[in-house]
Amino acid sequence: MNTTNIQALQAEIEAFIIIDKVTLEHFRLAYLKREIPALMGEMKNMANEDRKAYGQTVNALKTLAEQKFFDTQESLENATQGDTSHDVDFTLPAIPHALGTIHPITLVRNRIVEIFARLGFALADGPEIESDWHNFTALNFPPDHPAREMQDTFFLEKNPDIALRTHTSSVQVRYMQAHKPPMRVIMPGRVYRNEAISARAHCFFHQVEGMYIDENVSLVDLKQTLYHFAKEMFGAGTTVRFRPSFFPFTEPSAELDISCGMHNPNGCTLCGGSQNICKGSGWVEIGGCGMIDPQVLENCGIDSERYTGFAFGMGIERITMLKYQIKDLRLFSENDVRFLRQFIG
Ligand code: DAH
Repeated sequence: MNTTNIQALQAEIEAFIIIDKVTLEHFRLAYLKREIPALMGEMKNMANEDRKAYGQTVNALKTLAEQKFFDTQESLENATQGDTSHDVDFTLPAIPHALGTIHPITLVRNRIVEIFARLGFALADGPEIESDWHNFTALNFPPDHPAREMQDTFFLEKNPDIALRTHTSSVQVRYMQAHKPPMRVIMPGRVYRNEAISARAHCFFHQVEGMYIDENVSLVDLKQTLYHFAKEMFGAGTTVRFRPSFFPFTEPSAELDISCGMHNPNGCTLCGGSQNICKGSGWVEIGGCGMIDPQVLENCGIDSERYTGFAFGMGIERITMLKYQIKDLRLFSENDVRFLRQFIG
């Protein structure tokens, strides 16, 4: 072994990184048990005049390796016994973790899912990029219906058969095609409309669609289901009102209003006491509903002679605004933490 090799070994020992007891043991075996004893073993073959200088060099290397071994062993021992080099006051309050909050739309969506799940409704979803057939044609929208105009719907420029869905009713169609009655399902999701953004309108928002198809499903089932929902969501005193309306895919159709509490002794509770939202009428619209048109059942492969069904679609933003007295729709998508952190799941 020449001096160059001894220097290389010294550099290796100095550079060796020991992070735990396992690497410490590797170090011990490699250098203290193997390499350095081997160097010492060579001494007996040496000429007398060389032996002294060689012995001193190897001894220095051995001291270096032992020093590193014992020092590291000691600091590893200390680390496992707890670092006492600086005092820690365990009685101080912990540094709080900044937890995120649940978005109010998600909170309300989850609550809606929970209420309907207890009534036996399954949960389903569908694509937001939808074909014209699923969004309009299967739901009886005539070819010249105004909702099909570019001003209302975001169509794909290159393929006018594809659009961003304008309502979650398209998921009804997909669900009917894929399942056989009886079926009871709710379908929450995001929808898109070509609207100018303001406090009351947005180009995207959320709806929850519901559908119940079986033999002998009637308007009474629809009314009771939504009445139950309103009470669960807004409180026991809440009532619902069905205003006759029109949708191409339901017959008869109705607009669904809930009482805001104006006529209660405590006043307009859902409007925040201001009658702003109900405009003094005592009623607020939260969605549409009706008995599924037999033609829609047939379009989706369901025997309309045997089965009947009801459907409804409600605005999740609208329900959230009422529940938390939020006055501006834009707050939901601006991601202002001062707004968001008020909602805790
Ligand atoms: N899709 C309708 C809309 O976006 C809402 C709606 C009305 C859904 C009646 C329904 C329904 O399922 O039965 O305005």
